[in-house]
Amino acid sequence: MLSRIASVAAACVALFAAAESLRQAADMRGIAMGTAVNARLFSEPAYAATLIREFNQIQPENGMKMARTHPDKDRFDFSEGDAIVAFAAKNGVKVRGHTLVWHEGIPAWLAKGTWKPEELRAILNGHVRAEVAHFAGKVYAWDVVNEAIDKDGSMRQDLWNGKPGTGAPGTYGYIEEAFRTAHAADPQAVLFYNDYDSEVANAKSDAIYAMARELLAHGVPIGGVGFQCHLSDASVSREAMSANFRRFADLGLQVQITELDVRLPVNASGVATISELKQEGTIYFEVASACVATPRCSAIQTWGFTDRHSWIPHSKPGFGAGLPFDANYRPKAAFTGLMDALTMKQ
Ligand code: XIL
Repeated sequence: MLSRIASVAAACVALFAAAESLRQAADMRGIAMGTAVNARLFSEPAYAATLIREFNQIQPENGMKMARTHPDKDRFDFSEGDAIVAFAAKNGVKVRGHTLVWHEGIPAWLAKGTWKPEELRAILNGHVRAEVAHFAGKVYAWDVVNEAIDKDGSMRQDLWNGKPGTGAPGTYGYIEEAFRTAHAADPQAVLFYNDYDSEVANAKSDAIYAMARELLAHGVPIGGVGFQCHLSDASVSREAMSANFRRFADLGLQVQITELDVRLPVNASGVATISELKQEGTIYFEVASACVATPRCSAIQTWGFTDRHSWIPHSKPGFGAGLPFDANYRPKAAFTGLMDALTMKQ
C-alpha cells in the first residue's frame, strides 16, 4: 500500500514537473489561475496568445465596474463584459465578476446627484440585480462588495455608508442587502467580499473576519473572501498569510488571491534592478504557496499579466514591473515563483 502511495505521489510530482504553463499546472492542482484583462487588448496577438496559454480564469480589470456598466440612471452597457465572456467561452476559461458595489468607479450621474437614503437603496439593489442577472450562468463568482472597511477596521464612510447612505438596517446594512440581492439574481454564483491590505492578521483583516462571521450568522449568502495582494517589494511571509487565510477557510468560506501584483521601483525606462526582480519572484512564490497551503483557497489571480499593460505606473509613478511577464511577454522570476508554488509537493 505504502509503495502504491509512493508511486502515485511520484507520478504526481512528475506530472507537476511536466507542466509547461501556469494554466497546466493550475489545472493539475485544481486551482484557478486568473488574471485581470481588458477586452481592447484581445486584438494584440502576443497578449491573447499569452493569456490563453497561461490562464484558466479571467476577470475584467474595469469592464464590469458600475461607471462602465451603468452609464446613465436608466441605461446599462454590458458590452465589455460580454466581449470578455465571449473570449472566455471560446478559450475554455472561467470568468470572475468585479465589482458590483465599490466607493470608486461610480458613474458621474450617481456621484453628482443628491439622493435620499431610500433612493440610494433602490439604486444599489437595481444595479446589483440587473448586472448579476445579465451575467447569470456566465460569471461563476462576483466581488459583490469591494473595499468597504478602513485600515483601522471601521466601516468606510462613502456614498453607500455615510451621508446619506442607503439606510439599510444593521451594522453591515448595505453589504447584507447587496449579497442578498445578488444571490436572488443568480443563486449559483459564489459571492465574495474583496479588500486590500488584509493579507495578514491586522485591524482590517480582523474586522473583515468579524463581519464575515456576522454575515454568516445572519444567513447572508457570502461564499468567499478575496485578498487583493497589491504588494510592494517588502518581504511577506507565507506562514503569516496562510494563518490568516485559514481562519476564513475555517468558516467554510472560499479564499481567493484576487489582484496580485508587486510594485518595484523602476528607472525612467520602466526597468527594475535584477535584485528587485528576484525579490519579486520570492514574493510571488510566498503568496501563491500560501494559497496552495490553505484549504479552500481556490484561485490565484494577478492584476494583469504583462508589464506592458499594468495600472502600477499610472497609479504610482516611479514604480512598475509588477507582473509575471515583462513588457515583451517574457516570463520573469515572478512567473517562476508562481510555477514553483503551483507545482510544489505539499
Ligand atoms: C483599478 C484599475 O486597475 C485601473 O485601471 C482603474 O483606473 C482603477 O481601478 N482595487 C481594485 C481594482 O479592486 O478594481 C482597482 O483597479 C485596483 C485596486
